[in-house]
Amino acid sequence: MTRKDLLAIATEFGSPVYVYDASKIEAQYKRLQNAFKGVKQVKIHYAVKALSNISVLKLLLKQGAGLDTVSIQEVQLGLKAGANPKDIIYTPNGVSLEEIEVAAKLGVKINIDNLSILEQFGTKHPNIPVCIRINPHVMAGGNTNISVGHIDSKFGISIHQLPHINRIVENTGMHINGIHMHTGSDILDIDVFLYASEILFEAAKNFKNLDFIDFGSGFKVPYKEGDIETNVEEMGKKLTKRFNDFCKEYGKQLTLAFEPGKFLVSEAGQFLAKVNVVKQTTSTVFAQIDSGFNHLIRPMLYGSQHNITNISNPNGRERFYSVVGYICETDTFANNRRIAEIREGDIISFSNAGAYCFTMASNYNSRYRPAEVLWYNETAHLIRKRETLDDILNNQIVISL
Ligand SMILES: Cc1ncc(COP(=O)(O)O)c(C=O)c1O
Repeated sequence: MTRKDLLAIATEFGSPVYVYDASKIEAQYKRLQNAFKGVKQVKIHYAVKALSNISVLKLLLKQGAGLDTVSIQEVQLGLKAGANPKDIIYTPNGVSLEEIEVAAKLGVKINIDNLSILEQFGTKHPNIPVCIRINPHVMAGGNTNISVGHIDSKFGISIHQLPHINRIVENTGMHINGIHMHTGSDILDIDVFLYASEILFEAAKNFKNLDFIDFGSGFKVPYKEGDIETNVEEMGKKLTKRFNDFCKEYGKQLTLAFEPGKFLVSEAGQFLAKVNVVKQTTSTVFAQIDSGFNHLIRPMLYGSQHNITNISNPNGRERFYSVVGYICETDTFANNRRIAEIREGDIISFSNAGAYCFTMASNYNSRYRPAEVLWYNETAHLIRKRETLDDILNNQIVISL
């Protein structure tokens, strides 16, 4: 996808607009598959929450991916996209027993992350196999909000509570078919991840009828030049050997599962916005765009730094800009960022806009959520229309006053 293609998309579909390059998603999927080609059975469940457009789900299903879901709605979306229920894993956190029962009825793999639900579910449905999410108490993620495997985290059942798990399993006669961990997004150090995996292998020995071990995700992708990324090839080499050895020791060929979101879709996405106003103040030059944290909240929420390129004037002289949105409160995408000269009306592109961008978009300030476009087979396909006032009003009820 060239700069000209992006400009043409902004012209045809308007701005702001999310654009996803299907070939990058496919390439990342193949890269991960390749890293673990030494394991007989591998299942990559794509984490739907990262980017849940049904056409993107279809694209990944076509590659052979399964889906990782965290809500009953994501399960339903996955089924609508054509996924086999057996290829969907449902890993909720803190949801009701009723919601888990609905998912179980739909035939998806159930992953339970607390003792209370484990006991209730096992008592009522001893014949439905479940996976258990273990919290290995390892700090592997980046930002504290996305580091979820540590001791203070609300996720998973503590590794120290294995005796409790065993007691529940014994008393209910339930079947544990999988064991899972997710240490958090943005793994910087493979050794820390492998250390957490050792804890999971140790825990796995408690269960005699496993079908799979799910190592979660958290593969870090580069945002800007020089950024560290998780070396999935090195991780693949090390974990493959360890996993294969474990299967021998365990006496059964298990499936090695992952559930990447960001790794598969982050770099495939670009967010295009138009500069409405260039505002010189006494301290900086603001480039004010036709969007805000209602459409792309990651910089404000996580401090993430998306590369910004002026695709309308790529060869312009570089100057420093603070790129901000139109929301009625602080709404900063970048501070003092060096960008090719920006003129009012220029289209700028934010990179790494595939994961946790559209899915976190809202209607704050009663703005419409943007359109989404999939670049597939050298053609731009509209995969979500820009919203209209009808969407904002939909479900609102006007009462007589
Ligand atoms: C349980 C679980 N699995 C997978 C993911 C996907 O993580 P990532 O996008 O870093 O690959 C998340 C992210 O929040 C998660 O909570």
